[in-house]
Amino acid sequence: MAFLGKRILLGVTGGIAAYKAAEVARRLIGAGARVKVVMTRSAQEFVGPLTFAALTGEKVATAMFGPASEPLEHVALGQEVDAIVVAPATANFIGKVAGGIGDDLLTTIMLAATRPVLICPAMNAGMWANLVVQGNLARLKGRGLMVMEPAAGPLACGAVGLGRLPEPDLIVEAVAGLLSPQDLTGRQVLVTAGPTHEDFDPVRFLTNRSSGKQGYALARVAWRRGAGVTLVSGPTSLPAPYGVKYVAVRSARDMGVEVKARFPEVDVLLMAAAVSDYRPTQAEVRKIKRSQEEMAFHLTQNPDILKQVAGLKSGQIVVGFAAETHDLEAEARRKMREKHLDLIVANDVNRPDSGFQVDTNEVTLIPRIGAPVPLPLLSKEEVAAKILDQVVALLETRDGDHAKNT
Ligand code: PMT
Repeated sequence: MAFLGKRILLGVTGGIAAYKAAEVARRLIGAGARVKVVMTRSAQEFVGPLTFAALTGEKVATAMFGPASEPLEHVALGQEVDAIVVAPATANFIGKVAGGIGDDLLTTIMLAATRPVLICPAMNAGMWANLVVQGNLARLKGRGLMVMEPAAGPLACGAVGLGRLPEPDLIVEAVAGLLSPQDLTGRQVLVTAGPTHEDFDPVRFLTNRSSGKQGYALARVAWRRGAGVTLVSGPTSLPAPYGVKYVAVRSARDMGVEVKARFPEVDVLLMAAAVSDYRPTQAEVRKIKRSQEEMAFHLTQNPDILKQVAGLKSGQIVVGFAAETHDLEAEARRKMREKHLDLIVANDVNRPDSGFQVDTNEVTLIPRIGAPVPLPLLSKEEVAAKILDQVVALLETRDGDHAKNT
């Protein structure tokens, strides 16, 4: 959603990771962006402009002095797009931008750029550790450019260390941050996601159908909008979202411990996890053997995490979900009252395209004060954005009330 109709300038400089920039371009386009590629001369030693032209459907800019029809291309390019990403960015390029040098098309674009910029350094580990390079990066950050940390691993020179270009998905996620409104800057947001696993024995557990997709979408979108995000996640097969502090848990009790420990430090709790209401009364230490024809298990109620944090509230906005198969709004309102929530997301889990596991969701947002907001079927990221719009409004009201009372 962040990319629909957006125009991105992708700068490619001369490192071995230049080939990975083709995948970055492909994914940006896949997400809905239009991509204009600018390559330095040394980038073209590693990968040809034709590759990018074919992927983006646009002419690749490589030279400072173009045709007479576009005499000031270098100035206009960095001002017309919605964001600029340079991947990979070499130590040489970073040094030139830090020093205000514009001796080719890409560095000159950077001098005239007025749009948000993401720099993705990729280089040998020794170069990365070089104090001059680090000083140059600090200067770029000081000027408001976003700099992505390189990944660790085997490098093209044979060494192992920090310096690899981050995976294309992570770069795309960081660009999404550049394109999003920064209305959660300075806020701390705690998100829970996924199912819990409640053990019967070392190999079997009680769980539910939650994939974590809705909670992870909330964490991603909150980070893009400037929040500091902690994601407490039950077991899922999803990768940890970029930029987010990730805490893996298994059981409802583990999740409760992590949420309660972090709750006093946050502004917002978004409780999207499908927490198991019950656990086996006794978890066997050894695998339960096949024996009699029928077996019965005793279950014990798990603590209700939302009810527990209600007692710790000191101004936090608390959002719960209600996954329901019937009496959607009435059940959601009951849970909102019992759990002292500011907002509840009533989630219809009857439809095959809504609720558990799928990429879309149909929900009604029910605030404690005010009218319910039924939403159409949307992607889980779009649902996350709508929830966060309401959270931003609730935070503003809270801050306004606080200012009046002090
Ligand atoms: O993960 P996905 O596949 O994307 O699916 C998304 C979802 C359907 C899991 C999600 O959108 C959702 O509806 N999550 C809440 C599911 C749920 O368990 O609802 P509930 O009605 O049982 O619980 C109500 C609220 O209390 C929830 O916010 C829940 O996190 C919280 N709770 C529940 C039990 C418990 N012991 N402690 C809690 O805090």
